[in-house]
Amino acid sequence: MLTIDSEKHRFHLRGKNMSYIMQVEEDMQVHHLYWGDSVSELPDSWFDRAPYRRASLVEHKDADSPMCIREFAHYECPTYGLSDFRMPALQAEGEESGNMLCDLRYVSFRTEKGRSPMAGLPCAHGSEEEAESLILLLRDPVTRLEVELYYCLFADRDIVTRHMRISNKGKESCRLNQVMSFSVDVEDGSFDLLTFDGTTHREFTPSIHPLQPGRMEVGSTRGYSSHQHNPNAVLLRPGARQNSGQAYGLSLVYSGNFTLRCEMDQYHSLRVQGGIHPQNFAWHLAPGESFETPEAVLSYSAHGLNGLSSVLHPFVCRNLIPSAWQGKARPVLLNTWEACYFNISQERLSEIASLSSGMGIELLVVDDGWFGHRDRADSSLGDWYPHRVKFPGGLKALEKMPMKLGLWMEPEMVSEDSDLYRSHPEWCLHARDRVRTLWRNQLVLDMSRSDVQDYLIECIDRILDTGIFSFIKWDCNRRMTQVQSGGLPASQQGEVFHRCMLGTYRLFEHIRTRYPQILLENCASGGGRYDYGMLCYCHQGWVSDNTDPQDRLVIQNSASVFFPPVVLTSHLTASPNHQTNRTPPFAFRRDVCALFNAGFELNLMNLGEEELQEVREACALFRQTQAMLPGARFTRLNDELIPHDWFGWMLESGKTVIIEYFRPAAAEEPAYWTIPVHGLKKDAAYRDMRDGTILRGSDIEALGLRPDWRPGDCFSELIVLEEVRQS
Ligand code: DGJ
Repeated sequence: MLTIDSEKHRFHLRGKNMSYIMQVEEDMQVHHLYWGDSVSELPDSWFDRAPYRRASLVEHKDADSPMCIREFAHYECPTYGLSDFRMPALQAEGEESGNMLCDLRYVSFRTEKGRSPMAGLPCAHGSEEEAESLILLLRDPVTRLEVELYYCLFADRDIVTRHMRISNKGKESCRLNQVMSFSVDVEDGSFDLLTFDGTTHREFTPSIHPLQPGRMEVGSTRGYSSHQHNPNAVLLRPGARQNSGQAYGLSLVYSGNFTLRCEMDQYHSLRVQGGIHPQNFAWHLAPGESFETPEAVLSYSAHGLNGLSSVLHPFVCRNLIPSAWQGKARPVLLNTWEACYFNISQERLSEIASLSSGMGIELLVVDDGWFGHRDRADSSLGDWYPHRVKFPGGLKALEKMPMKLGLWMEPEMVSEDSDLYRSHPEWCLHARDRVRTLWRNQLVLDMSRSDVQDYLIECIDRILDTGIFSFIKWDCNRRMTQVQSGGLPASQQGEVFHRCMLGTYRLFEHIRTRYPQILLENCASGGGRYDYGMLCYCHQGWVSDNTDPQDRLVIQNSASVFFPPVVLTSHLTASPNHQTNRTPPFAFRRDVCALFNAGFELNLMNLGEEELQEVREACALFRQTQAMLPGARFTRLNDELIPHDWFGWMLESGKTVIIEYFRPAAAEEPAYWTIPVHGLKKDAAYRDMRDGTILRGSDIEALGLRPDWRPGDCFSELIVLEEVRQS
């Protein structure tokens, strides 16, 4: 609910369990008052009583008074140069005058029902019943720069999304150097920041940073949101755990360079911001032009990380991913990458298809190697027509396959050895007189150019218009270097990173509107671009190229804080594992995938009859769990924030509950061993399908469940509980 006190200029965004309150004060600035548990309308005295320790310094609140000092107050859109020395949310520089100052004063507000789309950028969507927007208009009286602060409240979900639109209503062009999607000043800054960091094969490694005076930042300047730091983080009150304590989710709906940053000031208040990374960003804004920042998602729970996930998972499923696949089970697929790498052909695919369809697998994804003369990673990107030797009958010949088909593409890239590069060497990002870095033997197309975008749209249409494919895996295997564009003047080179992202989004938007039924999988060497921006177009994502189940436990466990299992793809692969050479048993490999968006990525033709039978049974299990996933509730069973010796997961949908327990490394046989369970219906009765025992939900939660002990590494157990009746 949006409560507006227009006399006091107080705005209260209230969710089911969360309140976010702002107020315009005498200085005409929008002040942040509160974000946390839901509160009722508070008396003025609460806000007015000694808000700052050094009240005398802030008693001059008139914005035009030379005594008006800003470094103590809590703002919603802070700017630089007027006695607030913390990080600004907006910094604009006059291109002729060199003016760096900006004083954004409140002008008016308006409200809108629902959440309408943003032009060219991904964002959450919500019907009039689900969402309500508050827009605050601010203006700098000198430069006539106008800022609209957008707050969209998803009240049933305890979520507020934010972004801002900056319009140049003055006479002088300016350069935007810093544009945050959100900025919040929290009075009491005692928090830990939980971030998800890593590299290729080690995505989503959790780190906990106790915040201290000074700045703390995670971000990316690689052109994509990156493996190194994910654009989702959590502010936790010290002591918060999986099931308890206050957790504030910070997410960007953006896939390019980003920053998530905090600054604790001398009074231990905290400024938290997120948006486009300011390094190498400079946007030219001529009079009459506007710029819109990407959207940020702010979420809240008083019940720890599991509480936060229970807020975010339904939001992702209903308000982020495109509607065509909402609530629908994903097909169980087999991907050819770890099965055959580049060694694919029409003949080979036919064999794989007849074997895998017989196992119950529903979709075959033809990964890298099907186009141009691509036999290794050093050629043909950009030449999106079938490899003549491997596919003599063209893509048409695939039509006869006994299962649905998917295709891999990496549209944003080009190989030096390609017809596309030979005819358009100027179409890649490059800088005159400098070497063009070949990362994974490839170059990055200049996605800011409309001719490049048009060429790729043509290629995509040619493939999808055949009607042969119902699935696209969209890959992106290198980072941006030499980020300059021949399509833009020197004065606009600071726009290239963001314009490349806008160009890429245009392609995704094209697929979403022209081919809404196509199931899209996001991939960037695994989780190099695993973010809410991509989820607005892609219904699922390949979170890591590391398929070792032991490592996957960490990756999937962490990623599940922000991403529901239905969007997190996980494939059962061969043993020894191709990344780590470990040899986990089949059941362990299967169980790590089962409660996520599960599929296969191994060569069935190398398997004996016994293993094929295991695959057949795993496929039946996967089909059952896939049917549960859309709309399921997922809970992490470890209470500690970062699990070590064991992992526990629970999936609940309808009357079925599946509990999984993993102990990756052998432990000395314990005398007693129980799996802690929480999140069941306390007064319901459940049948433990292992032996038919019926137990009350509250008893299972009090006692835990006993796993069937088995010594050795890689212990996993999957327990099904069926709710039988109210006890
Ligand atoms: C990187 C991806 O993450 C893999 O799954 C595979 O598609 C390869 N690229 C293909 O080049």
